[in-house]
Amino acid sequence: MNVLLLGSGGREHALAWKLAQSPRLGKLHAIPGNPGIAEHAACHAIDLADHGAVVAFCGEHAIDLVVIGPEAPLVDGLGDTLRGAAISVFGPNQAAARLEGSKGFTKDLCARAGIPTAGYVRTGSEAEALAALGRFGLPVVIKADGLAAGKGVVIAQTAQEARDAIADMFAGSFGEAGAEVVIEEFMTGEEASFFALTDGATIVAFGSAQDHKRVGEGDTGPNTGGMGAYSPARVLTPALEREVITRIIAPTVKAMADEGMAYSGVLFAGLMLTAEGPKLIEYNCRFGDPECQVLMLRLESDLVDLLSAVADNRLAAIAPPAFSPEPALTVVMAATGYPGTPVKGSMIADLPRAEAYGAKVFHAGTVRDDAGVLRASGGRVLNVSARGTSVRAARDAAYRAVDAIDFGESFCRRDIGWREIAREEG
Ligand code: AMP
Ligand code: GLY
Repeated sequence: MNVLLLGSGGREHALAWKLAQSPRLGKLHAIPGNPGIAEHAACHAIDLADHGAVVAFCGEHAIDLVVIGPEAPLVDGLGDTLRGAAISVFGPNQAAARLEGSKGFTKDLCARAGIPTAGYVRTGSEAEALAALGRFGLPVVIKADGLAAGKGVVIAQTAQEARDAIADMFAGSFGEAGAEVVIEEFMTGEEASFFALTDGATIVAFGSAQDHKRVGEGDTGPNTGGMGAYSPARVLTPALEREVITRIIAPTVKAMADEGMAYSGVLFAGLMLTAEGPKLIEYNCRFGDPECQVLMLRLESDLVDLLSAVADNRLAAIAPPAFSPEPALTVVMAATGYPGTPVKGSMIADLPRAEAYGAKVFHAGTVRDDAGVLRASGGRVLNVSARGTSVRAARDAAYRAVDAIDFGESFCRRDIGWREIAREEG
C-alpha cells in the first residue's frame, strides 16, 4: 500500500516511523513532512489548504491511504474532499471533526447523550456570558469555542478574571474561535488521556497517556502543547477504562452515527478522574502530540493494518491493537523562549549518539539548512523518547539521550513522569 501522511510534527514523525515498519507498506509520502519524517518518506511541499492539489497528488502517486495527522485539515474538511474523490482516509469528516472544532457542539452532544462532563453554558455575546457567569462558582472555566491551538482556555480564580477573559475572547483575542464562548463548571481530579480507534461502528481501545502541559517543573508556569508524556496512564485502571468506553466513548460514537455524522478515526478523550468517576474535559479528533509518540513506542500491531481498517470500515474484521506492557516516556526539548517566542535556527547535533543509548528521537520542529545542518524551527523541537521496564527506567533512558544531544538554545523539564514514578515507588 502506498500511504500519504499529512503533517510536520513529532506526532507525524512517530506515525511515519511506525508505518515504515509495516511489511504492507509500499511507498510512504508526506506533505509537508520534516527532516525526521524524511528518513522514512518522500516529503513534498504542497499547501494542505489546497484540497485539489492533495487529491491530484494522490492520483499521481497511486496513494491507497491518506493519514491526516493534525486537526486543522480535518476541521477544514480535507477528509470530505478526499473521500469525495474515492480515496481512503484515516481521520474524520468535517462534520465529525466538530468534536474538536467546537467545544459547544461537544458539550451539547454530551447533554443529549447523557455523557458525564462539566456543567456548561454556551454564549454568543459578552452580555450573555456576563449574565450567565453568576450561575457558576469559582474557579470557573472560560473557553473560546473554536480551535485556538490549545490556548483558548482560562481557569479564572476570581469573577474579575472571568469577566476579563470573556471580554478578551469576544474582543477577538482568539479570532473566530472566540466568536462563541463556553462557560464551564470547574472539575477537580487527576487528568488522563484515553485513545480509541473507531470506524463509526466498531470501537477499539488504543491506549492511554498522561502529559505535562505546564512549561515549568512541578507543573508550574504557562500552558504549552505538552512538555512530555508517558503511557500507559496507570491511574486509568482497566475498570475505569471500561467505564470510559461504556459511558463516554460508545455513546459519543453512537450519537454521531445516529445523527448522520459517523465518526471515523482516532477519538482522543481528555478526561478528569473526579470523585464521581471519569468525566470528559474535551475531545480531540487526532492523536495527541506528544502522546502519540509514546503510544507508537509501545504499539506492537501493524499500524498500516489498523489505520486502513478504520478508513475502510473493517475494524471489526481485524485483531485489536496490542501494546507492550512496558511503559514509554517522552521528554520535549524546546527552543529557549517557548511557549512565548522561541529562538529559531539553533544547530542540533549528536542525535545518533543519543539514539545509541536506546532512545528514539522524534523531530517536532526541525529543518535542514542548505548545507544539510539540522536546525530548530519551532517551539517544541525534539521528542526524546524511550521505553523501559518501569517509568523510572524509561525516564532515565530518555534523559541519558537528552544529555547526549548538542542543542544550544534549548530547555526541557527534568521531572517528566514524576507523578507516576512517585506512585510506582510509593
Ligand atoms: P482543553 O483545551 O479543553 O483540554 O483544556 C485545557 C486544560 O484546561 C485541560 O487539560 C484542563 O487542565 C483544564 N480544564 C479544561 N476544562 C476544565 C474544567 N471544566 N475543569 C477543570 N479543568 C479544566
Ligand atoms: N498534548 C495535548 C494535545 O495534543 O492536545
